[in-house]
Amino acid sequence: MGKLRLGVLASGRGSNLQAIMDAAAAGKIDAEVVVVVSDCNEAYALERARQRGIPAEFVNPESFGSKGEYEELIVGLLNRHGAELVCLAGYMRVVGAVMLNAFPDKILNIHPALLPAFQGLHGQEQAWRYGVKFSGCTVHFVDEGIDTGPIIIQAVVPVLDDDTADTLAARILEQEHVIYPEAIQRFAEGRLKIEGRKVFTVNK
Ligand code: GAR
Repeated sequence: MGKLRLGVLASGRGSNLQAIMDAAAAGKIDAEVVVVVSDCNEAYALERARQRGIPAEFVNPESFGSKGEYEELIVGLLNRHGAELVCLAGYMRVVGAVMLNAFPDKILNIHPALLPAFQGLHGQEQAWRYGVKFSGCTVHFVDEGIDTGPIIIQAVVPVLDDDTADTLAARILEQEHVIYPEAIQRFAEGRLKIEGRKVFTVNK
């Protein structure tokens, strides 16, 4: 069977993109990144993709009259490259109807907190400020809400007394790099079954 073709959307540093590309290159996942799209021209994620010879495109949201038109262009790019699964990797925009309809139950996101706690921006810092003893990260399917879609995998990270928001974020990031490729692999194997809010990983 062919490899699952991934389109990755990223707005910044791109360490999750790197983890996915590394897992693919090492043969740890039956998937390959076929295109990377960013809403930010300076995103280092674009550079990381180009270093691997993967097409990397900046799409400027400011150039469009509406979110729908912006997403139409992205969907066109993803389709042109034959993307079968879309992975949001530090993509800092809310996905709209155009993308959701084009890729139903085929968009994943990684969030740096144990959802449904600490949704939105800076999940790591929100958790640290709140004083929780455990935080972590979540890979989930994307729906029309913000960080609300059905949860695929979570990893728990203890919060230490001497943590800062940054040290906690760094340990959470290590786990993000583990669970995102794992979730992609389960999808690639066709093992993810969504039943309402719940996602089950079934054995084939
Ligand atoms: C990651 O920590 C990711 O979980 C987070 O942005 C960071 C991107 O880092 N995403 C969100 O907060 C989405 N709400 P990266 O560019 O190095 O992968």
